[in-house]
Amino acid sequence: MEIKRVGVVGCGLMGSGIAQVAAQNGYETTVREVSQDLVDKGLKKIEGFLTKGVEKGKVTEDQKKEILSRLKGTTKLEDLKDSDIIIEAVTESMDVKKKIFQILDKVAPPHALFASNTSSLPIKDMAEVTSRPKNFVGLHFFNPVPLMKLVEMVVAETTSSETVETARKFTESLGKTVVTTKDTPGFIVNLLLVPFLLDAVRALESGIATKEDIDTAVQLGLNHPMGPLTLLDFVGLDTTYYIAEILYNGYNQDPRYAPPPLLKKMVDEGRLGRKVGKGVYDY
Ligand code: 3HC
Repeated sequence: MEIKRVGVVGCGLMGSGIAQVAAQNGYETTVREVSQDLVDKGLKKIEGFLTKGVEKGKVTEDQKKEILSRLKGTTKLEDLKDSDIIIEAVTESMDVKKKIFQILDKVAPPHALFASNTSSLPIKDMAEVTSRPKNFVGLHFFNPVPLMKLVEMVVAETTSSETVETARKFTESLGKTVVTTKDTPGFIVNLLLVPFLLDAVRALESGIATKEDIDTAVQLGLNHPMGPLTLLDFVGLDTTYYIAEILYNGYNQDPRYAPPPLLKKMVDEGRLGRKVGKGVYDY
């Protein structure tokens, strides 16, 4: 099956990035948000990224125009009816995701693939509310989507091998490297990343070093692009807390995944990270 048209549900941080890379790689792309205001904000974010790309000499002004001409925003799920693949990137609520996929199941053509960008929820549970669990796969992108090369493809028990192959070909056509993972909590990256971020908070909590020195140690001692506390702010403290709880419960209350009290305190104080201007650091 050849994918020509792409639908994206959600035009926040992840959805806008996914819609951008789809349009950038030649796909007619329609992205849906719940209100016109959010559609406009999401499309503006994409335009802003492309404008910076022009300034950096990564794309030309003509390419920018062409990419934007392949992108359509909408508030109606029905407008995704011609999509060959629909990628969902809404809030991490199983109820919300299930409701969206039940509607999409009625609107989308029978051949269309469904994908969720969830970082932590079981793909099988979403797949089973549709009449096409075989066509359902997880495609977990990383932030910032246009710059990060990896996509985790989550193969659920219900996913067919044809879907795996089509989804792989499509994701590679976006310029991404695909790794496949089972449908287990945290998949590969968050299973490894989250305990690392939690340990950085524990190191800060126990006073072994300042936040700056913890970050510098990892950045320069391990050659990471960002220190773990800066990365925590980048990912979001609430998001990390949420994934940690899923891992904690999904892996028999293993203390490695237990969110430390300092993380909870910062979340309770509204220090959610870069997106709100304050987290471990102030921005
Ligand atoms: N258009 C095109 N290219 C752009 C661009 C734009 N608007 N902005 C930047 N770039 C290019 C730059 O030109 C540069 O390319 P080059 O290497 O060829 O010169 C490259 O992208 C890097 O850009 P910058 O030098 O401006 O930025 P930094 O070097 O500061 O890198 C970063 C920024 C990529 C965010 C880097 O800090 C990084 O990789 N951080 C870690 C991010 C990470 O780990 N993300 C994953 C989070 S976990 C997740 O998402 C999973 C979820 O489930 C929690």
